[in-house]
Amino acid sequence: MKMQKIVVLSGAGISAESGLQTFRASDGLWNQQRVEDIATLQGWEKDPEFVLQFYNERRKEGRAAIPNAAHKALAKLEPHFSVTIITQNIDDLHERAGSSDVIHLHGEINQSRSSIDPELVYVIEHWAMKMGELCDKGSQLRPNIVWFGEEVPMINAAIPVVEQADIFMVIGTSLNVYPAAGLVDFVASSAKKYHIDPNGLTQKNTHGFHVIPKKAGEALPSLVQVLLNEADSG
Ligand code: OAD
Repeated sequence: MKMQKIVVLSGAGISAESGLQTFRASDGLWNQQRVEDIATLQGWEKDPEFVLQFYNERRKEGRAAIPNAAHKALAKLEPHFSVTIITQNIDDLHERAGSSDVIHLHGEINQSRSSIDPELVYVIEHWAMKMGELCDKGSQLRPNIVWFGEEVPMINAAIPVVEQADIFMVIGTSLNVYPAAGLVDFVASSAKKYHIDPNGLTQKNTHGFHVIPKKAGEALPSLVQVLLNEADSG
């Protein structure tokens, strides 16, 4: 029998229980920093050192964090389902938990890229990026993060995957940022849809979702177990 396709759209909430801050909570990153200063091209051009510093901190925290029960539960699905994780997160906790097919919509904290050629991407081995580190074309390296106002090239890879989902899960995202939030509109009407977030259903475009108003690390191990039992008996 053909394996069912599970597609996950995750956001900062799935990494919250690993100690990484979300963006829009009252103590979240966007309430401590001005988005314009650190997540736009204009902010980078105004003060690149400050921007590097901000992402250096995120890299340091991200590397110190460890995958939580939610990341681990999703990785357990793989032998029984075809699973793709589409994440807005720049951390690598899904991969470190064992998920093998992860699409990063908003870039990756452990990568840098040329500031003149987005195709020139490098793995960051050390933790702190510095001014004066150049790409092969001689321009300053910037974090490989998609900033506000920039294209989201990976959305083109994500849309056809979402269209194939038999089971679709939205986990730990406020669905405030497009085009990521618009992916829910590509889910087939026949798919089973889950929304896992302790704040419950906040967006109108999650109509038809089965809402689990719990933390991801509490909700996912049991949901995954149910799905694995169903796959075994089917
Ligand atoms: P947000 O901070 O907007 O939303 C986080 C969501 O996670 C909220 O709905 C919380 O209720 C929920 N949450 C909190 N703790 C949780 C837990 N333990 N389990 C499950 N859910 C929990 O973060 P995102 O939606 O990811 O982009 O933000 C989207 C994008 O906005 C980010 O990728 C980032 C930001 O600007 C860039 O930097 C390009």
